[in-house]
Amino acid sequence: MARPGSTVRVSLGKRSYDVLIRDGGIRHLGKYLWDLGFTGKVGVVTNPIVHRLYGRRVAKSLREAGFQSHSILIPDGERAKTLRWVSRILDELVRARFERGSVLVAFGGGVIGDITGFAAAVYLRGIPFVQVATTLVAQVDSSVGGKTGINHPLGKNLIGAFYQPCLVLLDTETLRTLPEREWVAGLAEVIKYGMIADGKFFAYLENHMSALLKLDGPVVQHVIKRCCEIKASVVAKDEREVGLRRILNYGHTIGHALESLGQYRKFIHGEAVGVGMVCEADLARDLGYCSEELVGRQRELIRRAGLPVELPSLRFGDLWSAMLHDKKVVKGQVHCVVPRTVGKVEVVALRQSSVKRWFHGRKTPGPAQGTAARQASFSLLKVNP
Ligand SMILES: NC(=O)c1ccc[n+]([C@@H]2O[C@H](COP(=O)([O-])OP(=O)(O)OC[C@H]3O[C@@H](n4cnc5c(N)ncnc54)[C@H](O)[C@@H]3O)[C@@H](O)[C@H]2O)c1
Ligand SMILES: [Zn+2]
Repeated sequence: MARPGSTVRVSLGKRSYDVLIRDGGIRHLGKYLWDLGFTGKVGVVTNPIVHRLYGRRVAKSLREAGFQSHSILIPDGERAKTLRWVSRILDELVRARFERGSVLVAFGGGVIGDITGFAAAVYLRGIPFVQVATTLVAQVDSSVGGKTGINHPLGKNLIGAFYQPCLVLLDTETLRTLPEREWVAGLAEVIKYGMIADGKFFAYLENHMSALLKLDGPVVQHVIKRCCEIKASVVAKDEREVGLRRILNYGHTIGHALESLGQYRKFIHGEAVGVGMVCEADLARDLGYCSEELVGRQRELIRRAGLPVELPSLRFGDLWSAMLHDKKVVKGQVHCVVPRTVGKVEVVALRQSSVKRWFHGRKTPGPAQGTAARQASFSLLKVNP
């Protein structure tokens, strides 16, 4: 049996599903699929890194439960999130004669989850899919909520579908092999949940950050569960991001701009979100939405997590035009999630003049801290259209 864990329900009527948080859970994947009534073929989409670490465990579990499992390997990293690799996955499904009742398993981080979910959404107009998430970002964010998709040469996540999984399995044991940089990046999204929805959880993170950085089992389990509960409750109220779900983009307006200005090489996503949250809170303070104390508290927690907290040196014009490329721009208006108190945010439209005043009035950055040492000047980089 898997070691005991917890379950979070994502309530979406007929599309409801469970998120199982189980240390050692991938050894029982076959049983979980069987319990859902599946039989026959299972396609496991993964990458060479995850396959080498855990592929055998998953294949054994599926075999023992009587499934015919097919591994479908795609390259590691964001570069695999393309139409070309969706097409390769579909080729495999056609060749292996996958049917409407066959299941596709996304086994890996957010990249694998996004592309596999999209392939599952379009193959035979939709076959069931299961998320088995193996990174912190995927366990607290991307595997829950049904956003699937791929990148276009002109922008990230421009092609996709809302398509819910029928099960999410989060095996916390798999997180122990995650590179430290990926773990720390995931903590930015964890801190985000405290800021947008739960002041008590934020205080818990303040008290348990050292344990979290040591991957203390019960603390990791609690944190993942709370993040999934918050995400599930937001998604249940606004599946298609017409209102409330936008609060999940806290830190992402400036964060996405920094990712694109660094041409996705300077920062990984969570690092950009960390700096994004620091800046968006400071901007919110400048606009009168929140206190200086909130800004300091949040900045300190992000710094303690080992995330960068300083905006790299860049020109305001470059930052603003990158912010204008954000998908959440409505009729030319940049929207941003701003904190009111720790645990409460709202979405506001930003005026260029206000952001410019904040940008030029900022205190000069202090010395590099944590992984901030990786920060470099963006001044020579062009905006990625
Ligand atoms: N759909 C959504 O709602 C949503 C939300 C957030 C992010 N995303 C997407 O998720 C992607 C980022 O996801 P990510 O941060 O998980 O990155 P990722 O999937 O690229 O994984 C990061 C790295 O960790 C490796 N890895 C995965 N599991 C491992 C393990 N257990 N041990 C060792 N190495 C492991 C991967 O091979 C990769 O090299 C982006 O494409 C982003 O757009 C989607
Ligand atoms: Zn994010």
